[in-house]
Amino acid sequence: MKKIVKYILVTLLILFVLVQFYPRNNNNNSTAITQTDISNVHHVPEQVMQVLKTSCYDCHSNHTTYPWYAQVQPVSMWLGHHVDEGKDELNFSEFGQYNLRRQYRKLEEINEQVKSGEMPLDSYTWIHRDARLSEAQRLLVADWVSVLRDSMQANYPPDSLRRKK
Ligand code: HEC
Repeated sequence: MKKIVKYILVTLLILFVLVQFYPRNNNNNSTAITQTDISNVHHVPEQVMQVLKTSCYDCHSNHTTYPWYAQVQPVSMWLGHHVDEGKDELNFSEFGQYNLRRQYRKLEEINEQVKSGEMPLDSYTWIHRDARLSEAQRLLVADWVSVLRDSMQANYPPDSLRRKK
């Protein structure tokens, strides 16, 4: 019995060492703020920007701040996967590339995700305690989304924001 445990542990250790050779993909850390960043295409109050940067930008922008353990596999793979998936859904660095309809819808989704507490992901706030949102911060995001969507409605024809019936 003891022998088996030892055998399993050694095998796990070897696997852990081998998986370190799998290439790390920690390169979503551009420092240039794009022209299409949401802060350049819409009015984002300082306090809201702070929330987005602290609680969302690691997964929803081109600017991930990688923790030291991102150097370790398989953590690197796992984080990279989250960033890819997050950016597919919503990339604040490319917000200005979305058409108006998509921007308008994404804003509503942002509000829903934040209100329901689904975003930021639990697996993230578990470690990044400062990314957890207070009730006041949730309201701040909700107000911002509502004002911004209203101003889009005032500035663009309805057809450009909503799918035609
Ligand atoms: C740890 C990474 C991570 C963080 C931090 C994070 N997200 Fe996400 N987000 C994801 C991933 C992965 C998805 C796609 C899969 C899913 O929906 O769970 C996603 C999906 C979304 C979606 C689309 C959901 C839908 O189906 O409509 C929105 C909107 C969103 N996130 C907003 C936010 C906002 C706003 C914040 C900050 C308050 C945030 N996220 C923080 C990883 C993250």
